[in-house]
Amino acid sequence: FQKKTLLGKKVLITAGPTFEAIDPVRGITNHSSGKMGFAIARAAVEAGAQVQLIAGPCDLATPLEATGKIARTNVTSAKEMHLAVLNDADYDIFFAVAAVADWGIAKPSKEKIKRQGKDAPSIEFIANPDILLDVAKTVKNKGGKPHPYCVGFAAESTDLEAHAAEKRQRKGIPMVVGNIGHETFGSDLNQLLVVDENGSKKIAKAEKLQLARQLIALVAKKI
Ligand code: C5P
Repeated sequence: FQKKTLLGKKVLITAGPTFEAIDPVRGITNHSSGKMGFAIARAAVEAGAQVQLIAGPCDLATPLEATGKIARTNVTSAKEMHLAVLNDADYDIFFAVAAVADWGIAKPSKEKIKRQGKDAPSIEFIANPDILLDVAKTVKNKGGKPHPYCVGFAAESTDLEAHAAEKRQRKGIPMVVGNIGHETFGSDLNQLLVVDENGSKKIAKAEKLQLARQLIALVAKKI
């Protein structure tokens, strides 16, 4: 049983990877099953929130769809995810859980690029928009509290705590949640490091849904 700590609140969540097309059959993407973001969506609905879930390509069913409390928009590229997020207004919490590709393809080919003997094509990348940073720039102060309350995520191969703290500063957001270890990809289990104004705190290894519920309880206290 979940306490209705988010009754009347609206929560925006990005989840899953993005896919950047090189041509109609090829592309680059990031590792992300979407499970953590979808678990947060479920936990938010359980806590009484209305949820807008913006999902990159992933194979997951919309949680608690029958409640009508969750609207889902499917997107492919980071650009599309960015547009979908900017299209939304008036939410209380933003969880940027998506593993957004840092670079898109400058000029994706409309036709499949044919092999040219042994030569490999060179592909030009362009920086994708930073979705979380753009939302963070719109944050207002509402009754002494940041609105919307932005939560960023970090998956790092080294120095998780330092990187998470650096992201928090760089993006000017109150909370960054780090994934401890690499086994999180695709797994139902995870372990988190929450970095906020009080420093950092571990949430012990558990099912992603259990972690999501703990995270929702934590964030509900902040808003
Ligand atoms: O910028 P960096 O990758 O260090 O930070 C990761 C956090 O920023 C995650 O919460 C991720 O969802 C978000 N992000 C984003 N748009 C990007 C890159 C990262 O929203 N283009």
